[in-house]
Amino acid sequence: MTYIQVTGGKKLHGDIEVQGSKNAVLPILAASVLHNGVTTIHHCPEISDVQCMIRILDSIGCKVKKEGSTVIVDATQLNNYRIPDEFVARMRSSIILLGPLLGRQHFVTISYPGGCTIGARPIDLHVKGLKRLNAEIIEANDLLTCMTTKLLGTEINLDFPSVGATENILLAAVLAEGTTIITNAAKEPEIDELCAFLTCMGAKIDGSGTGTIIVQGATSLHDCEYTVKADRIVTGTYMAAVAATGGKIILRGAVKEHIEEVIEVVNRMGCVTQASSEGITVIQKSRPNAYDLLRTRSYPGFPTDLQSPVMAALTIARGNSILIENIFEARYKVVKELVKMGANIEIDGKIAIIRGVSSLHGASVKAYELRGGAALVIAGMIAKETTDIHSIEYILRGYEDICRDLRMLGATVNYIEE
Ligand code: EPZ
Repeated sequence: MTYIQVTGGKKLHGDIEVQGSKNAVLPILAASVLHNGVTTIHHCPEISDVQCMIRILDSIGCKVKKEGSTVIVDATQLNNYRIPDEFVARMRSSIILLGPLLGRQHFVTISYPGGCTIGARPIDLHVKGLKRLNAEIIEANDLLTCMTTKLLGTEINLDFPSVGATENILLAAVLAEGTTIITNAAKEPEIDELCAFLTCMGAKIDGSGTGTIIVQGATSLHDCEYTVKADRIVTGTYMAAVAATGGKIILRGAVKEHIEEVIEVVNRMGCVTQASSEGITVIQKSRPNAYDLLRTRSYPGFPTDLQSPVMAALTIARGNSILIENIFEARYKVVKELVKMGANIEIDGKIAIIRGVSSLHGASVKAYELRGGAALVIAGMIAKETTDIHSIEYILRGYEDICRDLRMLGATVNYIEE
């Protein structure tokens, strides 16, 4: 088994190119099945979740070619109505194929995506929304069987601005008859990217990023080429890293508009950030300041995916910080691993109280999920000794090569074969 070994105590310096966005490219790859033709997607991150989505597309009859970070999907010959269970079990995002496959072939079966370590993650809003579009959905024996004679545009108000439910409904509405209006829709930048991609394919969509999305159903789409933007969560992870270690880094390709709230947070932690056409520069000259009260919220609020990386940085802050996790009910699994490294963190339900300590020490720790895993790498860079991080398959799901990136910024971070 491979693990990551970090020897900390170094400031970060240098510049890196930020990988393409995982949470934008996954729904875009799923959307490629809407079109009876070829889609070319550039700047795809080389991560295991993308590999999983490509294998799903293969399994339903798409011909997928990969040339470096470009993925070419030929969805002319779809020939399977069932998404293989092994992929659904590995990646919840496979559920996003429901909408486009219902739109394209009017029938799809998929096993129920289980929860994951960060929460129960039900899909009731997805099912409710697709039923509103005239889909019949039978839930039996952990299977969802979805069918329709024809999807019909309508008004759908989401009880909660779920990213996944917004994407699934949006993708189904593209080929529905008539107009669909989604209110209380998610506003995340990944929704904007999905809408930009669909528009590039010939779909008619207005209102992305406003909370009210209007989709005029289309009868046909066309080949398109799209370049995915930089991953805002990877950007934020490296900003949290330099906020903790000190130094000066340039994140090339990072999009300032996507991370305004994150910039505000690291600035309050003592960083200076400058945005330019090249990307974002982050400078930290001293030990981070504590952050009195940080709540995770739907976009444009502070993203839940950066809660753990920022928590890692706050472990050595001057003073005490309070974090409130409002989106996922079980996203503090990393805490006991950080405490093994000398952090002083108390959990009370959604609340985490982080009492800043002067330093962390090396330890052998374990990742339980993607962003918690990245937080342990940051903690390892804070600790002066060596830290071994196990179960890194979680980290590889979303970070193309966290060791390469951080080594380019001067850290000592390596994959070790056990
Ligand atoms: C997306 O997950 C992201 N994943 C997550 O990133 C991210 O944390 C999340 O949005 C919130 O920003 C991808 O884009 C692939 P939601 P998603 O539906 O779509 C509840 C990462 O680390 N809910 O907005 O699954 C749900 O339980 C991952 O990259 C329902 O109750 O998130 C949660 O509490 C982790 N019923 C909340 O809404 C539903 O039908 C937000 O979920 C759907 C969701």
